[in-house]
Amino acid sequence: MRKMVLLHLVVAILLAGLRGSHGLAHEGHSARLPDEQADVIGFRTYLMANIGDNAKELNDKLKAGAVAAAKVNAQAIALHATRIPALFPAGSVSGTSRAKEEIWQQWDDFVKISRLLQDEASQLGVTVANGSAEAASAQARKVFAACKSCHDQFRKPEEKQ
Ligand code: HEC
Repeated sequence: MRKMVLLHLVVAILLAGLRGSHGLAHEGHSARLPDEQADVIGFRTYLMANIGDNAKELNDKLKAGAVAAAKVNAQAIALHATRIPALFPAGSVSGTSRAKEEIWQQWDDFVKISRLLQDEASQLGVTVANGSAEAASAQARKVFAACKSCHDQFRKPEEKQ
């Protein structure tokens, strides 16, 4: 039970930024999928927001004991993770983007953490299919640790309003 509480805390922290930013009139947030070429920052924001929504739904399913049903969310996160590096072309910064310059200074690390997320989420898709709640939470923690590790290193803190 203690482990579950910790997991929820991690997810709450990850998703806090999402809720906070939705209230803003923000060039990076659009209801429709932005064009990837014309607005790569908008596109990756849409993708990250969808990763966040999948993470939340996955967590809700694990909490409710619907372990096998979380497979679709784990797989979506793994698939999205394959696209992360290509959505951060050098110099793609803006007044509203929270991408740090360190992404391009430590590019190999950034790619490595994207790959880690991909592998851990892909493994989670396999783990949840076996239906063990204990194993699923342990693997979900590895997924959320990959999110946190990249955000801690490469994402600017949210601006206070
Ligand atoms: C390899 C790095 C990396 C990984 C891994 C990563 N993120 Fe992100 N994430 C970022 C960066 C960088 C931004 C800010 C992008 C910008 O503002 O241009 C971001 C932004 C976000 C946002 C804000 C989107 C919005 O609406 O503004 C959410 C939510 C989010 N990430 C959730 C997650 C979750 C959940 C995971 C793990 C399942 C995850 N991220 C994994 C780098 C990463």
